[in-house]
Amino acid sequence: MTMQTVGVLGCGLMGSGIAQTCAQAGYRTVVREVDEGALAAGLGRIDKFLEAGVKKGKLTSEVRDETRGRLTGTTRVEGLSACDLVIEAIVENLDAKREAFAAVETVVGDQTIFASNTSSLCVTEIAAATERPDRFAGLHFFNPVPIMKLVEVVRALPTSDATYQAVFTFAESLGKEPITAPDRPGFIVNRLLVPYLLDAIRAYERGIGTAEDIDKGMTLGCGHPMGPLTLLDFVGLDTTYYIAEIMFQEFKEPAYAPPPLLKRMMLAGRLGRKSGRGFYRY
Ligand code: 3HC
Repeated sequence: MTMQTVGVLGCGLMGSGIAQTCAQAGYRTVVREVDEGALAAGLGRIDKFLEAGVKKGKLTSEVRDETRGRLTGTTRVEGLSACDLVIEAIVENLDAKREAFAAVETVVGDQTIFASNTSSLCVTEIAAATERPDRFAGLHFFNPVPIMKLVEVVRALPTSDATYQAVFTFAESLGKEPITAPDRPGFIVNRLLVPYLLDAIRAYERGIGTAEDIDKGMTLGCGHPMGPLTLLDFVGLDTTYYIAEIMFQEFKEPAYAPPPLLKRMMLAGRLGRKSGRGFYRY
């Protein structure tokens, strides 16, 4: 099927990046937030990113304006009624996702495909709660979404071949490089990345090195663009904690167990860049 209008549920860090990427690729895009304040903050993030792109010479002011022209924000679920594809990027909570999809299901047509940007929840479980489990897939983007080339396309147990193909082709049309991932916690990337990030916290907690030296070790020694503690601050310590918890519950392997320091930093509100403090101050 040809997609023309894309809906995005949530305009946070990931949702705003997904909405921007869809609009920039030529899709009419409607992004929904729960209230005007969150919507304004999300759209503001997109404006800032587009503006920075123009300043860096990565896109022209025409592309910026066209992208913005294709993008609308709404707080009403009815705003998504014309969407061929709805991508959910709200909080990593099963009940919240089920509720969000149930609301969208009352306004969209039968052909509309649903996708979740979940990074760790069971896609089959979210799909099974809808009335269209065969038209449901995982579409996992990476932060910062407009820059990172990868998208994991997750084929849940009930996902039909047609849906999988449509979603894979859609990811390619965004200029991304999709890979196919199984519906297992963490898919491919987080299954490898999360134990590494948690190990970096354990190393720091045990005094193996300072935060700066741990990060320097991995950037200068291994050519990573960011050290693990900088990356944790970037992704968000709350997000990492939720993902690790879900993976640990499923696999029961110590590699996925959130270290005590991660939990305490989260409880103290040290969430990384978004809260102004994590392993570093911002
Ligand atoms: N618009 C368009 N392009 C932009 C831009 C903008 N606003 N801002 C930056 N760019 C471009 C730059 O021009 C540059 O392009 P080039 O390589 O062609 O010159 C490229 O993006 C990199 O940007 P910068 O050079 O300005 O910045 P850095 O070199 O510091 O890179 C980064 C920033 C891309 C974020 C890099 O540090 C990085 O790759 N970090 C790792 C990010 C990562 O691992 N993300 C995955 C997290 S895990 C996840 O998301 C999964 C979830 O489930 C937890």
